[in-house]
Amino acid sequence: MSQLLNQAQIQGGVKQSLQPLRIELLEEVSSTNDVAKELLKEHPNDFILVATNKQTAGRGRQGKSFYSELAHGLYFTLGFQPKNLQIEEIPFYTILAAAALVEVLEQYVKHPLAIKWVNDIFYQGRKISGILSEMTTADEIGIVVGIGINFAGDFSETDESVQAVAGTLFGPKSPETFNQNEFLSAYLNQFQKYHEDLKGKAFMPVYEKHLLGIGQEVYYFVKEVKKQGVIEGINEQGHLLIRRPDQRLDTLYGQEVHFSSAQFIQ
Ligand code: BTN
Repeated sequence: MSQLLNQAQIQGGVKQSLQPLRIELLEEVSSTNDVAKELLKEHPNDFILVATNKQTAGRGRQGKSFYSELAHGLYFTLGFQPKNLQIEEIPFYTILAAAALVEVLEQYVKHPLAIKWVNDIFYQGRKISGILSEMTTADEIGIVVGIGINFAGDFSETDESVQAVAGTLFGPKSPETFNQNEFLSAYLNQFQKYHEDLKGKAFMPVYEKHLLGIGQEVYYFVKEVKKQGVIEGINEQGHLLIRRPDQRLDTLYGQEVHFSSAQFIQ
């Protein structure tokens, strides 16, 4: 790994508007989302960052596990209590997080990144990152946004289902010049820019521009019923629009939708 996680370096690169920022760096942890939830309960007014290079129980959406022991993987969670948040705005945080992520990661690589709706980031035809947003249920709504990034390494130590879809941003090794602390500062700044003007939704065109599979015929499951159609794009709420064979438009959102990454692998 090119550079160990370092609190001073991360803090040093973060803009003033993100203070108070509470940073917790861990050598190893079960899930950064769980630590962030606990910290947010204790410090509801802080913006929290929990980061590690190894999780022992990393999780993804729909109860799946997320392989978190890559030679260079970065697993981190942002936690905060947004002011004046409407319930229906909560799902925008996954969209915002994905848009900010592709923008920042694209500064380090030659090719464009893509977003597989709703929370997966692809590079060169493989999933290199996943996002898991969760809520905390104290008096006020708390949001934790957990992100796992496969910077470098291989998946020989994990199971076949992961090997079938997972890839890395940099290949076997991260470049010597890559500094994950600088990356985290840059990401925090970009995330904050969109977070402080959530209602302005400047992240939506970025998300849309990177959406994977427009015009592609796909299959998906809604409440375990298999369906198919062609991806048209997203609507203003960030729901996925799919044109069915009978020309009706299906609007996908929520936890009941299963939309496999495998069909996007190249
Ligand atoms: C997915 O692929 O469905 C989402 C994966 C999210 C993984 C990140 S790693 C940091 C944070 N902690 C977790 O346990 N999960 C998220």
